[in-house]
This record gives sequence, C-alpha cells and structure tokens, in this order.
Amino acid sequence: MDVTVLCRLLDGWADGDGQLPQRLADAVAALVAADHLADGAILPPQRELAAALGIARGTVTTAYDLLAAQDCVQARQGSGSRVRRRGVLTAKGATSGRLSSFAGHGHDEIDLSSGALPGLPGVVGAFARLDPIELAAEVATDGYHPAGLPRLREAIAAQYTRDGLDTAPDQILVTSGSQQALWLVAHTLVSAGDEVVVEDPTYRGGLEAFRDAGAALLTVPRRVDGLDVCAVEALLRTRRPRAFYVQPAAHNPTGTSLSSAQRAALADVLTGHGVHVIEDTSSADLVLDGAGFRPSLAGQLDPRRVVTIGTTSKLLWGGLRVGWVRAAPAVVQTLTRMRTTIDIGTPVADQLVAADLIATTADLRRRRTADLVPALAATEELLAARRPHWRWVRPSGGTSLWIDLGDADAVTFVEQARRRGVRMVAGPSFSAFEGQRSHLKLPFWHPPARLATALDRITGA
Ligand SMILES: Cc1ncc(COP(=O)(O)O)c(C=O)c1O
Repeated sequence: MDVTVLCRLLDGWADGDGQLPQRLADAVAALVAADHLADGAILPPQRELAAALGIARGTVTTAYDLLAAQDCVQARQGSGSRVRRRGVLTAKGATSGRLSSFAGHGHDEIDLSSGALPGLPGVVGAFARLDPIELAAEVATDGYHPAGLPRLREAIAAQYTRDGLDTAPDQILVTSGSQQALWLVAHTLVSAGDEVVVEDPTYRGGLEAFRDAGAALLTVPRRVDGLDVCAVEALLRTRRPRAFYVQPAAHNPTGTSLSSAQRAALADVLTGHGVHVIEDTSSADLVLDGAGFRPSLAGQLDPRRVVTIGTTSKLLWGGLRVGWVRAAPAVVQTLTRMRTTIDIGTPVADQLVAADLIATTADLRRRRTADLVPALAATEELLAARRPHWRWVRPSGGTSLWIDLGDADAVTFVEQARRRGVRMVAGPSFSAFEGQRSHLKLPFWHPPARLATALDRITGA
C-alpha cells in the first residue's frame, strides 16, 4: 500500500503510551482490527514509512517485528510485510483516512483538515418555525419518502428553474447529503472494472465512492486555469470510459471554476463521445469572485447522460444531511430503487427545513459570499506576511486555498504539523494516484487569530 495512505490512516499514532515502536505497532494493529487495512495488503518499505513519519528507520523495523510477533503481519524475505486479518467483518472498499476529518480531536488541537463551514444561524430559525400542523400531517403518514418529500423536490426543481435550467420535481431525488448521491450514482452507473475519468486533484469522497464501486480510475489534470479540455478529448479518443466525474464550479480542492468557453468546449467533447457525466455542484453556491452563480452544465449536455449532484451542506449546514440528484426521470426512478436498500429516506423534519430555506437561496448565497470574501482577504494577507514562499491562485469559489509548497513535501509537512497540534490535509488525499505531493488544502474561513496560532505552531515544519 502507498506510504501516504498509511500515514493518513495512522493519524495520531504517536499520541499513546509506551515506546515509539510499540505505539506504531499498536496503531497499525488497530487499523487492521478496524478493517482499514485489507487482508494481504503489503505495508510500505520501512525506509519509506520512516521518512514519511519523520522517525528513525529502526523504529519502524522494531514496530514491524512486534506486529509479526503478534501475528498481525507476515514478514516474507524480499516481498515485504503483509497484513494478516482474522476479523469477521470485512468492508469491501478501502477507506483512505478521510474519517479523521470528522473525528473530533483534542481540545488543544487546531483542526484545519476540513473545508466544511459552520451552519448559518437561519437554520436554527427554520427548525423553530417548523409548522406543527404540517408536521402532524406528516407524522400521521408512514413518513417514508424514498425519492424525497414532494414539497422539497418541488423547491429544488424550482431553484434549478430560477437558475436557468428548467427542471420538474420528478427529475429530483433527495438524498442524505451529496455524498450519498455520489455513492448511489457510482454504484448504479459503474460496474467493477469500468473506467471512470476523474479530475486530478478532485474531491476525496468522490474518489472513495468510485473506488468502492470497483471503478478503474483515469485522470485528467485540473489546473489553476481550469480543466484541460484537450487532455479530456485526447483521453476519450483512445479509451471508452463509462463516466466522467467533474466539478465545473468552485472545484474542491482547487476552488477554480471553468470559464464559459471551457464549459462549452467540455460539453461538446463529452456529448460527442457519449460518456455519462456526473456533475458535482456541491460547492457551487459559494461564489467568491463576483462573477455570480454558475448554472449547471446539464443544460449543455445530453439529458439522458448527465446527473447533477447538489447539497444544502455548503449553503446551509452539513448537519442537515440534505443533498440531491437531478437527472432524467427514469434515472431518478432507478436511483430511488437503489436508495431504498440503504436508508429508505432522508429525515422528514430536515427536508421541511431545507424546503423552507431553499426558497431563499439567492439571499443565502449573498450571505455566504459576504462572510467568505473578507475571510479570504484576511487569510491571504496573513499568509503573504507569514508564508511569503507559499503560492496559490485566488479561488473563484469554495472555502479553501490550494497551496503550492514548492519543493517541500506536503505529506511530511502535514505529519510534522500534526505533531505540533495542527491538523491539515496534503495533496495526495485528493489524487487518484497519490499525486499532488507539493500541495496542501487550507480552509480560509477560520478566524485570523486561530490561523495565526496555527502558523506559529508549524513554524519550522
Ligand atoms: C465536491 C463535494 N461533493 C460532495 C460532498 C459531500 O457533501 P455532503 O454529503 O455533506 O452533502 C462534498 C463535501 O465536502 C464536496 O466537497
């Protein structure tokens, strides 16, 4: 297994008691027990792991020996140390360490690992305004709405229409967050071994969903000036991928948006090759560059071959867990059938709140922009003063800066920062093949004082 993946999974390994080799061995054993390391996975070479963790090679050697002694790995001369699992529950897909961003950490730790924003106060008001009569009417039913509460499907469709893309409620499937939408689409559209094109870098939850569905990933570079449409065309001329996963606006993690010329060129190429397009617009509401909301690419694509994924997580609050798929009605029906095998439906109260607030999307977008633009300026000023050698291109949307560290290795940097009480995510997490090693994703919305303390702590890392 790749050393950067193991480092991510080993998050916090050095915090425990005992000698360092024992702590490392315990952390690896815990990963094996928790099913994060597949049976037969080969641990990285000792020298590589030692370099990535910033520890002596002998520490890794002793840790591997301890693991072999407890029969947790099998050491074979010349073929490395292999994981031996004897557990009962086995997850089919491998996780990539993203869980640590949701884990809640020591109170002294500064967590810069997630771009997720706190919710808007309006969410509290909307819960308080829930109409008891409407709620009572819902409670009098069985409460299951696999495709989504009709009122919410209407509200989402109406918002697409206001944004310039005519949409009917039967084109909407409400999901529990856009992560579930991605998972459903990946598992419905992709069979094991199908090729799926992803941008490099891209959203790490997307990579997990496609990998989990058994996709063979192909990549096209997502650069600071957008997507390389010529590279997409060249790829589609030689391969016949099943699907293309793209974030046209406020791309996570780079914050870039495609220009109208790039959008038109991309739509032409994708339509010409008949590839299914999975358009993820999760961050598109968060506009920073004054150019306004970029409407979905779906209006320029064959409606039978495009699904658009959206969410209330960025605009409102991640805790609502309301996302959706916009697709042709027949596709929505197929996805709905699949969805009933997972959670049957999204909580009704959350859907009622979302339906209320989605009607005020234009105001909410303005509110988010009004908060994020000064936060971006303050962070840029701080970084220019404290880290003049870091480079980034001002994002057109989203919540993070995609920092280029130049010659420094971001994986090592993140590991050292973590030991100093600052949690961040390095580029390889966002890359299908563990690339982007010189990059770091840094959320810019934290109060400048917190960011300044984090920068103080990591000085010299
Ligand atoms: C591009 C993208 N897609 C999907 C998601 C998942 O969001 P949620 O499940 O909270 O709607 C995120 C969250 O960060 C994201 O950035």
